[in-house]
Amino acid sequence: MIKAIGSRKRAVRKPDGSYQTFLSLIADLLDAEPVQRLDAFPHHADSSRLQHSVNVAYYSFLLCRQLGLDYRSAARGGLLHDLFFYDLANKKDGPQHTWLHPEIALQNAEEVAELCDRERDIILCHMWPRAHLPRYLESFVVSLMDKVAFFTEVGRTVFVNHKSPRRSNTPVSVRI
Ligand SMILES: [Fe+2]
Ligand SMILES: [Fe+2]
Repeated sequence: MIKAIGSRKRAVRKPDGSYQTFLSLIADLLDAEPVQRLDAFPHHADSSRLQHSVNVAYYSFLLCRQLGLDYRSAARGGLLHDLFFYDLANKKDGPQHTWLHPEIALQNAEEVAELCDRERDIILCHMWPRAHLPRYLESFVVSLMDKVAFFTEVGRTVFVNHKSPRRSNTPVSVRI
């Protein structure tokens, strides 16, 4: 089973089966080789890029469902929002990475699945307010959950694993 950080109780105990719904919405994407390849890239603190993407997808799914928004696009766009394949340690300086990696992720995502406009916007605009302005409410949600996931991942490393927030070269698998 795959789980988002912090989701254990919800995944097991939530009577509405929301975690199974979430997994069913992204199952085809999770099986795709480019998405699985993200597990080899450290992203924030101890989290791999795949773990981060699952976190963003799941948090976005939950909030969009609560708000009556398109939670399917939020889950799928959230999972693909960081679909790029260079190590952040080798990234170009800030603004270039900030603007370019959503465009690279969108190009890669188009190869993995047929995307709707909302999913394209989610991927392209997830760095808002530092980059592209979203056109859809779901994109604002994913952009916000991207930041929430960042703090969750770094916080987990510092407060749960008691480590420096510097990235490890050893990615954490999201398969349990
Ligand atoms: Fe990103
Ligand atoms: Fe991200």
